[in-house]
Amino acid sequence: MAGNWKMYKSVGESLALVQALKEALGDVSHRETVVCPPFTALHAVAEALRGSNIEVGAQNLYPAEEGAYTGEVSPKMLLDVGCQYVILGHSERRQYFQESDAFVNEKVKAALDYGLKLILCVGETLEQREQGRQRSVVSAQVGRDLEDVSADAMKRVAIAYEPIWAIGTGRTATPQQANEMHRAIRDVLSGLYGGEVAQGTSILYGGSVKPLNVDDLMAEPDVDGTLVGGASLEAESFIRIVRFQT
Ligand code: PGA
Repeated sequence: MAGNWKMYKSVGESLALVQALKEALGDVSHRETVVCPPFTALHAVAEALRGSNIEVGAQNLYPAEEGAYTGEVSPKMLLDVGCQYVILGHSERRQYFQESDAFVNEKVKAALDYGLKLILCVGETLEQREQGRQRSVVSAQVGRDLEDVSADAMKRVAIAYEPIWAIGTGRTATPQQANEMHRAIRDVLSGLYGGEVAQGTSILYGGSVKPLNVDDLMAEPDVDGTLVGGASLEAESFIRIVRFQT
């Protein structure tokens, strides 16, 4: 269960939130929980969560160890501040920063080379869904973003299916729509890596996940977790999401 804080929260606000999460989720060791604060709060959050069962992720990286790349952050720097995870290929980055599948693939390989775990986001636009192209669009993204990624490295990859029309809109995919797409993604993984890797890969749903819809989403057989934006910004709602009941 992962929280994507996007461009929200100061260091102080981040620390207050993770303190509340740490206290409330101390007994939830059977569910992998990850928070992804903005870069500026990563170090403080990682320090605050050290020794807890909550992991820390970044929301992006640049695929080089270091260099003259003004404004960018490398995988090595993420490890240095205590990150275990990174979100890659989020639709907001694809849309506002023109990130192509080829660039996302470079980032995926860089993250894995440095030992990070990653959440790779894929998803179709409303227009693509209305044209009935969601399966082909998402399958192609998965194939291109994972090019040259080994079966062994897939142990550190989770995929988040995030239909763009459901992100931040309050309009969530139905549990059935989510499950259907998760199954399609698992089929692609099965074709690329075989059934064992396909079954072993966590496929998260993202897009307006809330305390009120998480239980139904998580009840679907192919929904292994969620990537939560808005509802991860408040302790109470994220705690309820992590504590989903099926
Ligand atoms: P949302 O965002 O939960 O606010 O819809 C999800 C995401 O973009 O990861």
